[in-house]
Amino acid sequence: MDLLNELESLVPELERGIGQAFSLAELEELRVTFLGRKGRLAQIMTRLPSLSPEERPAVGQKANAIKNSLTEIFDARKAALEAEKEAAQLARFDASLPGRAPWGGSLHPTTLVQEEICGIFQKLGYDIAVGPEVENDYYNFEALNMPPEHPARDMQDTLYITEKVLMRTHTSPMQVRTMLARKPPLAVVVPGKVYRRDSDLTHTPMFHQVEGLMVGENVSFAHLRGTLTAFLRGVFGAKTQVRFRPSFFPFTEPSAEVDISCCMCGGKGHHSNGEPCRVCKTTGWVEILGCGMIDPAVFEAVGYDPKTISGFAFGLGMERIAMLKYGIGDLRMFFENDVRFLSQFV
Ligand code: PHE
Repeated sequence: MDLLNELESLVPELERGIGQAFSLAELEELRVTFLGRKGRLAQIMTRLPSLSPEERPAVGQKANAIKNSLTEIFDARKAALEAEKEAAQLARFDASLPGRAPWGGSLHPTTLVQEEICGIFQKLGYDIAVGPEVENDYYNFEALNMPPEHPARDMQDTLYITEKVLMRTHTSPMQVRTMLARKPPLAVVVPGKVYRRDSDLTHTPMFHQVEGLMVGENVSFAHLRGTLTAFLRGVFGAKTQVRFRPSFFPFTEPSAEVDISCCMCGGKGHHSNGEPCRVCKTTGWVEILGCGMIDPAVFEAVGYDPKTISGFAFGLGMERIAMLKYGIGDLRMFFENDVRFLSQFV
């Protein structure tokens, strides 16, 4: 009976077809052709009603058996193809290759210097404080003994927001804010950004300062000298020489600028090969910070009694410290965010 024969012939036909199916997609095509809803088997089965009722059970059974055989052949081939595919993928994957290390970040040299400076002063018992970058004229100038028309205001190249509001030109306004907020004795360091209308090889419109402030009874210039000498030797090494030169700031009296022996040439003014030192311009000294004893006018502005209270303050530029400490020759490198530069500081 030809229906049974046709059913029987499906198995060798599928086997032949499968021998030529080398991908899972080709295999799926074959599955649809043989076992799909309109496939070969289904089509043969549509002719079942044409048989006599006696013939039908045998053909039905045969059809089921053939369907199972087809499915088995198909599943076996599918498993084999999948295994081949996985093996090919594994062959391309070399587990012995070295891994790719994740890209580690590093801290900006300004941040490193800030952390080092603040760390030294924290060990000396100082608190760390921060203040606003957009500042009132009062805190930036007036309370620091620079009334309107004071000539020292011109030195600062101020960026104004309004007539009375500006970008702070130094961290010194935090002297005023700190003394207004606390009672002596007090000791704080204030790191932060400052702004000046200035831009050339050695000046950027924004840079970083650290302000230091120590106020109490009997705080003297000797304390200032001892503190700054210890601090600068902590940053630049124990052999560093420190010298104080008389200077002027409206909010300190007396005032001084502090130099350290040049850390590039060891204070000699020239290198061991006889080449003149460009960092200290052969003087052997580099200027590093400004400082002084708090002016009585500032104490009066914050309501402290200058007869019983004294104190000192200092301010320094962090980029300058970082340039000297790490031997960075160009200020612009701090602000260009070149990874080749930044990744050297780990
Ligand atoms: N504020 C000063 C400046 O920016 C530095 C300074 C701070 C000087 C504290 C004396 C005391 O130049």
